[in-house]
Amino acid sequence: MKSFYNAEKISDNVWWVGAVDWSVRNFHGYLTERGTTYNAFLIIDEKVTLVDTVKAGFFNEMMERISTVIDPEKIDYIISNHAEPDHSGVLTDAIAAIKPEKVFASAMGAKTLKAYYGLDVDVASAPLSLGQGTLSFVETKMLHWPDSMISFYDRDGLLFSQDAFGQHLAGSKLWADEYDQSILEYEMIKYYANIINAQSSKILALLDSLPSLNLDIKAIAPDHGPLFRKDFDKVFAAYRRYAEQKPQKRAAVVFCTMWHATEKLARAFADGVRYAGVEVEMIDLAASERSAVMTAVAKSGLIAFGAPTMNNQVFPAMADVLTYVKGLKPVNKIGFAFGSCGWSGEGAKQITAELEAMKFDLPIPFIQSKYMPTDEELNKAFAAGETLAEKLKTVTE
Ligand code: FEO
Repeated sequence: MKSFYNAEKISDNVWWVGAVDWSVRNFHGYLTERGTTYNAFLIIDEKVTLVDTVKAGFFNEMMERISTVIDPEKIDYIISNHAEPDHSGVLTDAIAAIKPEKVFASAMGAKTLKAYYGLDVDVASAPLSLGQGTLSFVETKMLHWPDSMISFYDRDGLLFSQDAFGQHLAGSKLWADEYDQSILEYEMIKYYANIINAQSSKILALLDSLPSLNLDIKAIAPDHGPLFRKDFDKVFAAYRRYAEQKPQKRAAVVFCTMWHATEKLARAFADGVRYAGVEVEMIDLAASERSAVMTAVAKSGLIAFGAPTMNNQVFPAMADVLTYVKGLKPVNKIGFAFGSCGWSGEGAKQITAELEAMKFDLPIPFIQSKYMPTDEELNKAFAAGETLAEKLKTVTE
């Protein structure tokens, strides 16, 4: 019987045998509005090799795809480029079913797989001959975990880049050039902002080191989303742009509100930015979530954060977002804090402290209204938006 799940050939000797997760919407706190894929790859060489596996729950899909090409028990090696469970969740089951001669991971990967699953695997410390072709490995620590590595199959010029260059984007097409490019670009920057941004210096180092590796790349195959078969310079340039985090002439206003007081200040600030001729996006945390905020932060040179005070603390939705954004280490940002309170007024002060800790440039002190903003306070918020947008223009033009 023909398998429901089929492998798809991506080069002369390599097949995609991964899984498409159309339904996932929360990927450890990241809103995956278009689902994702867990890509795995089967190399048919003298040593048949499986590069990466898939998340728990997708074992049968991966195995069925493999079975359309070869009996899975003929697989000699499994490579684990990254031990996070979205790529290793079925590794134990795969080893039991396939009985490979060896499983390889980076030195940290071997420790991580031991800690997660009690597995003993070999360390990919040198290029691995598969017969006609060779797999070489480059450790990419912290991209996205300490165990991460990328691997390159020279026979077909395939760079298995693991999390790097990925997108959370489910689809029935395999190649990036088959997708709506505006969607692809949005999902690429969203993925970078939420998964990779904290390690931007390591991305720059990786991009700088690539030419010296002399890889004749024919395709870039990340572990999530579509693969790239052309325009590699464009892909690398996009990652360099994201990693450099140069200020962008665009603003975002992130706010939460209880009785619309903070919202009024948010709208006044945004209108000031707009009046200065800078594009601005409003994000109401009642209708959005942290990964959308981080995407907007990555795309914007100016970000205002506003929240009420509740029980002597900044409103919890804003605390969540600030904690999240701080961990992803954005740089080169102009910021502004604002809020409203009834009596104690810790909210805008706590936002300011967090933005200072993130080294945001805060040229204007926070504005905080008591109960409802007065016309004077709204005018001040408008003026703050206008002034900071003008300042943004001086660093982006
Ligand atoms: Fe796709 Fe860091 O795992």
